Amino acid sequence: EHEPYSSKLRVPEALTFDDVLLRPKESRVEPDEADLTSRVSKTVEVSVPILSAAMDTVTEADMAIAMARHGGMGVIHRNTNIDRMVEEIHSVKRADELIIPHDSVVTADPEMTVREVDEMMVREGVGGAPVTNTNGEVLGIISSTDIRPHLEVGENDSVTEAMTDEVITAPQDIDAREAFDLMYEHRIERVPVVDDENLLVGLVTMQGILQRREYKEAARDSDGKLRCGVAVGPFETDRATAADEAGADVLFIDCAHAHNLNVIDGAREIKEAVEADVVVGNVGTREAAEDLVDFADGIKVGIGPGSICTTRVVSGAGMPQITAVSQVADVASEHDVPVIADGGIRYSGDAIKAVAAGADAVMLGSYFAGTDEAPGRVVTMNGKKYKQYRGMGSVGAMKSGDADRYLKEDPEDDEEYVPEGVEAATPYKGTLKSELHQLAGGMQSGMGYVGAETIPEFKERAEFVRVSSAGQAEGHAHDVVITDEAPNYSPDE
Ligand code: XMP
Repeated sequence: EHEPYSSKLRVPEALTFDDVLLRPKESRVEPDEADLTSRVSKTVEVSVPILSAAMDTVTEADMAIAMARHGGMGVIHRNTNIDRMVEEIHSVKRADELIIPHDSVVTADPEMTVREVDEMMVREGVGGAPVTNTNGEVLGIISSTDIRPHLEVGENDSVTEAMTDEVITAPQDIDAREAFDLMYEHRIERVPVVDDENLLVGLVTMQGILQRREYKEAARDSDGKLRCGVAVGPFETDRATAADEAGADVLFIDCAHAHNLNVIDGAREIKEAVEADVVVGNVGTREAAEDLVDFADGIKVGIGPGSICTTRVVSGAGMPQITAVSQVADVASEHDVPVIADGGIRYSGDAIKAVAAGADAVMLGSYFAGTDEAPGRVVTMNGKKYKQYRGMGSVGAMKSGDADRYLKEDPEDDEEYVPEGVEAATPYKGTLKSELHQLAGGMQSGMGYVGAETIPEFKERAEFVRVSSAGQAEGHAHDVVITDEAPNYSPDE
C-alpha cells in the first residue's frame, strides 16, 4: 500500500488572526466595565496591556511618555548610541515627576536684580524660582507677582528685596497629596523641597500635580514615575546595564530569532547583570518557550507577522501568530511567565484575539507609527498625509545600526545587506490618545462578548471558532460603498 503523502508533508496547521473568531458567550459584562489591567513582565503591571514597538519610526521618549500616561508602555528602540538612549529613558522618567530634581530647577541668585530675574523666568518659561546662595541654601522664593511692582519703580532692586523670605518648604519624602494640601492651604504655586540643612533638593509645582491627576490610568513605577521599556541587543551587556541604571523598568532582548542558543546565552548574561525585568524575544514555538522559562521575566512572540516584515518570504521561516502565541503561552503560563504578542495586529479585534490565545499584552508598530508622538515628520503624497514607517530589518534601519537583530554582521557594501523588512509610509493618524482609545475600547468590547471582567478571567473563558474564507469576508464591511471613514476600521485594499 502507498502512503498518499510523504512524511515531510504530514504537517500540522498553524493559524493566524483572520483564521479565528471569539465565540460569543453568556455575559453580564458591559464593555466599559471590563478591566484591562495586566502584566508585561513578572513585576511590571500596566492598566492597558498595550506596548509600542521598539522601532526607530515608532518609539522614542515622546511616544513612551504618551503610552505610559495612557496606561500602556513604550519600548524605546536601540538604533541609537547608549548616551542618547540613557537621555531618552531620563526624559520618560522625569516627565511626570512629582519633585523636579535640583539640577533641573531654575533658581535665582541673591545678587541678581529683579529685571534680571524677570528676564530669566521668561527665558526659562517658569513663573517663579527659589532664591539660593552658592551653597544651595534656600533664602527665599520669587514669583512674577512679587516682581511686577518693582519693575515699575525700581527694576535694579535686588531680588532679595522683592522675594518672599519666609518660604514654605517641603521635606524630601512628601507625596502628591501632602504637597497639594500644603500649596492649597498657603495659596501657593510651588514649594521648594529641602534637606535637613535647608539645602535645595528639588521643587514641587501645582502645575505638575494637576498634570499627574489628569492621567489617572498612567502606568507608574513605585516612585510614581512613568514606566519605560527599552530594547537591547542580546550581546549588548553594556547597553543593558546603562539602561538599568538609568531606571528602565523592563529590558527587551531584541532579536528576530531568540531560539538561537547564543542569543539565549547572551540574554542570560544580561539577566544576571541587571535589576530590571528582562523580556526575551522573539520566539514562536513551544520548544523555544521551554528554553526561556527558567530565567526570562517575560517572553515576546512573533516570527514574521509584522506589517513591514519580510522574514517569512525572505527566509521561508515563520509561524502564524495565533498558533505561535498559544504554543508559547501553553508553556509560559505553567511557569507564570507573561507572554507578549508582537506584530501583525491591524485591528482591536486582533489584539484581543492575541490575549485569548494566551498573551498578557500586545505590541504594535504600524498601528502607532502614524501618530504625532512617533518620530519623524508628516509628508504629503497625492494630497494624503503619511508618516514614515520602516522595518528594523530594512536596509535603511540596518544601515543606521540594527543588523545584529537579524544576527548579521554589517557588510562593507550596502548591496550586501539581506534585508528582512521594508521601508514604507503609513497614513497619518493624529494623536496617540485617540488611537489607543479605539484599541483599548475594542478590546473591552471583546471581553464583553465573552463575558469576562478581567484579563485573567477572559483568558480562561475565551474560546475560538475557526473561520472559513467565506466567513472572513462576511466579517468585513461588504457589498457597500463606505461613505464616512470609521475611526477604527479601514478595509485592506
Ligand atoms: P506591526 O505589524 O505592528 O509589527 O507593524 C511590528 C513588529 O514587527 C517586528 N519587526 C520586524 N520584523 N522585519 C521583520 O521580520 C523587520 O524589518 C521588522 N521590523 C520590526 C517587530 O517585532 C515589531 O515589534
